Amino acid sequence: MKSAGARLLAAAALLASTTGCLRGCPSAKPPIHPNPSMDDQPKVLAQTSSNFFYDGSAMRKPVPGTIARGELRDDPVYFEGKESSGAFVAKSPVATTPEVVERGHQRFAIYCQPCHDARGEGHGILFQRGKVPTAALVDPKFVAYPDGQIYDVITNGTGLMSGYRWPIPPQDRWAIVAYVRDLQARHAVTTAAAAPATAAAAAPAAAPAAGARAGHR
Ligand code: HEC
Repeated sequence: MKSAGARLLAAAALLASTTGCLRGCPSAKPPIHPNPSMDDQPKVLAQTSSNFFYDGSAMRKPVPGTIARGELRDDPVYFEGKESSGAFVAKSPVATTPEVVERGHQRFAIYCQPCHDARGEGHGILFQRGKVPTAALVDPKFVAYPDGQIYDVITNGTGLMSGYRWPIPPQDRWAIVAYVRDLQARHAVTTAAAAPATAAAAAPAAAPAAGARAGHR
């Protein structure tokens, strides 16, 4: 006499043989789906509308003041170029190394040069095409700006110039500040070298001035 267990096994085997294999066999028929609750449960999909929330959007915004991991910008010197008093920092918090200046040069060429020109004299495309007054970055007025103020102009813009907070991350903004300082220093050298030539109007003095200019990018 067969035990109850053996009979159950035989019934299971019969079921398997009549329905074909339950998993792993290709079939043109829709799959057997014994427990569809996870698929059919009420839920919201990304970017869909909802009449449950007052704003009609299914997706919720983060609670105001939420800060993503690694995005806490609690250092006003580095992120805004300002002391906690609100005054512009005199010196960049990023050390000026040849790598930083080179990075700044590269970023300047992309973001600033179209308008301020490669020498920082303000003779870029706006000036050439529309005579738009564009600041000469080598002007003594901007040489006298604290580093934090140049950083602030890049971050927030000023007057006709828009801010570059979004396309240029803080580290690159400071690199550009370092490069602007480099441009200003080289401009000072070339104008100093040119000065005796104009003062004396002497031919020999013109030679070093020309040499210095050639090196002025
Ligand atoms: C689309 C053209 C344009 C670009 C790009 C641009 N600037 Fe300017 N910038 C201007 C104009 C125009 C002014 C004069 C604004 C005014 O006085 O209304 C100006 C002014 C400035 C000033 C003087 C601000 C002041 O306080 O008077 C600085 C410094 C400066 N730009 C730096 C930069 C740097 C650095 C970059 C690159 C990150 C840059 N600019 C990119 C057009 C531009």
